[in-house]
This record gives sequence, C-alpha cells and structure tokens, in this order.
Amino acid sequence: MPPEQYETYEHDVLIIGAGGAGLRAAIEAKAQGVSVGLISKSLLGKAHTVMAEGGIAAALGNVYSDDSWRVHFRDTMRGGKMLNNWRMAQFHAQEAPDRVLELERWGAVFDRTKDGLILQRDFGGHRYARLAHVGDRTGLEMLRTLQQHAVAQGIEVYMECTVTRLLKDGDRVCGAFGYRRSTGQFIVFRAKAVILATGGIGKLWKFTSNSWECTGNGVMLALDAGADLIDMESYQFHPTGMVWPPSVRGTLVTEGVRGDGGTLRNSKGERFMFRYIPEFFKAETADNEAEADRWYTDKKQNRRTPDLLPRDEVARAINAEVKAGRGSPHGGVFLDIASRRPADYIVRRLPSMYHQFKELAGVDITKEPMEVGPTAHYMNGGIRVNAETTATAVPGLYAAGEVAGGLHGGNRLGGNALSDLLVFGRRAGQHAALYAKSLFGMPTVEATRLDAFAREALIPFQGEGTENPHAFQAELQETMQALVGIIRKETEMREAIARIEQYRQRLPQIRVDEGRAYNPGWHTALDLRTMLTVAECVTRAALERKESRGGHARDDYPSADPRFGSVNVVVCKRDGAVVTSLEPILEMPEDLRQLLREKG
Ligand code: FUM
Repeated sequence: MPPEQYETYEHDVLIIGAGGAGLRAAIEAKAQGVSVGLISKSLLGKAHTVMAEGGIAAALGNVYSDDSWRVHFRDTMRGGKMLNNWRMAQFHAQEAPDRVLELERWGAVFDRTKDGLILQRDFGGHRYARLAHVGDRTGLEMLRTLQQHAVAQGIEVYMECTVTRLLKDGDRVCGAFGYRRSTGQFIVFRAKAVILATGGIGKLWKFTSNSWECTGNGVMLALDAGADLIDMESYQFHPTGMVWPPSVRGTLVTEGVRGDGGTLRNSKGERFMFRYIPEFFKAETADNEAEADRWYTDKKQNRRTPDLLPRDEVARAINAEVKAGRGSPHGGVFLDIASRRPADYIVRRLPSMYHQFKELAGVDITKEPMEVGPTAHYMNGGIRVNAETTATAVPGLYAAGEVAGGLHGGNRLGGNALSDLLVFGRRAGQHAALYAKSLFGMPTVEATRLDAFAREALIPFQGEGTENPHAFQAELQETMQALVGIIRKETEMREAIARIEQYRQRLPQIRVDEGRAYNPGWHTALDLRTMLTVAECVTRAALERKESRGGHARDDYPSADPRFGSVNVVVCKRDGAVVTSLEPILEMPEDLRQLLREKG
C-alpha cells in the first residue's frame, strides 16, 4: 500500500495523549503559533487525570502563609528519597502556583477559604496544607477546564486513535503511525515534533486505580525510538484503593479522606500507623490514643497525623498489618471518617467517595468505615527528559506528565502529579513548538516503513493459535501482582522475567477474529506487546536496585543502602534487548542543598 492510501495528517507539533499534560502542552504549543494535533486513545475528557481526585500541590500560601516554593521543593525531594531530578523539582515548585492561578483564570472553580482564596488541603509528606482542590473531583475539573480552553484555541483533536509506532527520519522523530478504533483504518501523522503525554502503566498489575488506557504505550514508543527511561523500579502503590466488592477492587479512595481527618484502623480497632513511626515510641504518650493523637498533631513540632505519612510508607504498613492477620474481612484495613467528621462535612468535602461507596459497595461512609488496601497507582519513573525543555535523547521527541520520569524520584507526593502535568506540559508545548519552528519543511516518511507497521499491526488476525488476548493480559497482571508488587525479591523477579519471556514466545499464538472496527480483542493484542516490554523494564530495573527506597521495597534488601542513594537506574534498548545500568545523579548546587538542610 503506498502512503497516500493511509489517512494522513500533518502538524508542526503532534501530541500523543489528551490528559492534563497533553492538553496543557497543546495549549502552549498553539500559543507559539504552530499547528497542533492532539491524539486521544479514548474520548476527549475521559483521561486518567480525572483519577487524581484530591488536589493540585502548589505553594500558594493561602492556608499557611509560611509556605513557599522552597518548602515545596524540600518536601518533594525528601518524599522522592533524593533520587529526584532536582532541577525538575525546583521548576515544579517554583511554577506550580502560577499554573494553578492560570487554570483559575481559564475557568476552574476551586473550593474557597473564608476570605475567598483558593482553599488548600493536607496531603501526605507536604509540610503545609497546599493542595488546591475542588471537593474530591479536582482532576475532573482540571481536565474540563483545559479541554474547554484547548478546543477554544482551535486545536485539532483525533479521538479514539491508538498509536502503535513513532515515525523516524534518520535519528529524529517525525510523526506517528496508528489506527482509528472506530473503523480500524490506519492513520499517519507527519510532524516536526512529537510530545508523548500518554500517562502511566498501572494496567500491568491486577489491582489498579488506572483505567484501560494505562498500558504504557508512551514508554514503549520512546524506548523503541531510542530514548532512555529512569527509575522504572519505583512504582507507587496508593495505600487506599477499594478492596470490596471484587469487581471494583483497586478503585481509588482519595488521600483527601485522610487529609480531611480520616484515620486507618486494623481489625482490632487500633490506629496502627502509630506503630510505624519509630520516634513515637520515644515519646511518653504511647499507650493513650487520644493523647498520642494530640502529641502527634502538635503543629509547633511539625508533627502530622501518621495516617498522612508518604504513600510508600502507608502502603507498606497496610501490607504488613494484613500479613500479620490484622486485616479487614476482605483483605484490607479500615478507613474511618464517619467517627471523625459530621455527615454533612463528609458529603460536601468528599462527594465522589460518598457516592462511590454507596453505589459500588453499599457502604455509607458517613456512618461506617471503608475497607481499603494498596492499589497500583502511579509510575514514579518514566522517560528520561531534559528538565528545562522536556526533550528526550531523541531529536524531535518530548515527554511530559506521568510518562516522563525524574521529578518524583523514588516516590511521588500526592498532589504533585497534577502540578507536574501543568508545569511540564507547558514546558513541553513551548519547547516542542520552538524546535518545530527551527525546522524547514516536513520530514520525509518512507512508504515501506508504513507498510511494515501496517503488516505488524495486523498479525493478531493471522494468529495460528487459540490464545485469547484478554486471558493473556490477565495472566500477565497476575504475574506482576504476585512477583513484582509492593514487596519484591530476587527469586520472584527472576521468575517474572522468565515468565515474560515465555509470554513473548506465546504472542504469535494470539488469535483475534471479527472485523477491525471497535475490536477490543485486537486492541488488547496490540497492547500486550507493549505491556510485556514495559513489564520487563520495571522488573529489570527492580533487580538492579538492590536496596529498599521509596516505591521500591525488597524483602532481600530491606534497608536503604547509601551506595544507591545518589544513583538512578537507567533503562534503554540495545540491539533489541532491554538493558539496565546505574548512573550517578548530578550534584545539587549549594543554594538548593542549603534548602534541604533547613529544619521542618
Ligand atoms: O488520592 C488522591 O486523590 C490521588 C491524588 C494523586 O495521586 O495525586
């Protein structure tokens, strides 16, 4: 098939992914005066960004006037166990307040303080209450606002399109190849610059807060194109997902519940999180819970509720309680806000949680505790990018949002995802547009390459076996859940690698039937190739880091090891194989180092 028979579009900047990062990038690129195409795997407005419910972290200082970008920077670095790209953490903390105010100017309706300022709520690991929010629907409001603004700017949107390959002209990226889900027809995008904003990889695990789109497409596209990944071993299991009923297991229960006063209890009714704070035992208040609570929430001493420790710590504590036989009936723990706040407060502050539990689990959270447990939530690592420009190692290729690594290091603080995608989405749009403007003419795309991509995408229709793609995907998810989950060890991860290899051998046995239009089996079959590679990247990186740090906990190396304290695990493809290495983190300048030495 010659190229002209493919449905073909041209844009200066092509953005793959229409969540918060993609939309923010599109708005910025358009503002630079270039033509912009935005590809959504799903429908516009249905991106996974809506699942960041609790808020956007930004040091606006509306609730605590002592807050500043410096404190936010420090919290982010400490939360990330110092593995973060410190320059990204600096830009993020400095620029997040402007990005939130800009969102407000574009129509986002935030909750308010009594004085009419944007209200900010508490989240784990943040020194001050700094999450700008809209009840527990912040991501939804953000997406609505960005989407309306983007459409008003005249950005071209391609919905329900899946990209299977990036196009290259020599070393540089020059577009994308994919298909329309509604018709199954192939589609070609020629572009001077491409931004990956495809989100995360949560569908690798069985229990996840992520929706079906989050299969790691951007990670795979970047790796195939020659970009590096970093910190892939560091994955965030959000401490609170639903555990019951089974059909909704993993669905997010926002950290806002704990931010607004909710507490975690085990089957004995104990506030078990106190057990996981070593310094608490040094205090003399240990045997009285009310006193302990007062002691621990003493703001002057900067002690916060232990239920709001960083997510990695809370998730591991819940895991340990369940393992020790102190879990709830369905294998989680209890999250109680009913006994802590009045019903009208709960319904006003947490409307989605109220309805979610009422409708999905038959639980009234104003009267009863919720049952919750860890759920795969967020990729802390991702594609390695330049802090200032978001450029990858491949000319013409940029990445922003969850798919990009660096900012969060070993563990992301809640609320930093939404600010990340605003800050770096904007930077990606700006720099990709500048790059595109520096080029003359559209790059060329070889017709034979397109034909090869088309043939490759149609392989599942010619499968020789009887493998069902959905059952196959479920098997991979079981493997990752069991062998590369919250707590890992060498023998299990080696077993995971062996299984991934076997799965790869089985790929040609997948068989899909029916036509190409809206064929979920075909779609899953294509995603599986991606998922196997991303699963291998996560597992190999996890084998490389022989210590426990943040979102990477190992049974066989249970402590942090200083030898790994200032290195990133880098993943790349060499001669078709996934290869890992350790790279030292650049030394931090003295002015930033000084911020980390400050108390608080
Ligand atoms: O708990 C939450 O509302 C999730 C927020 C986030 O991941 O940033």
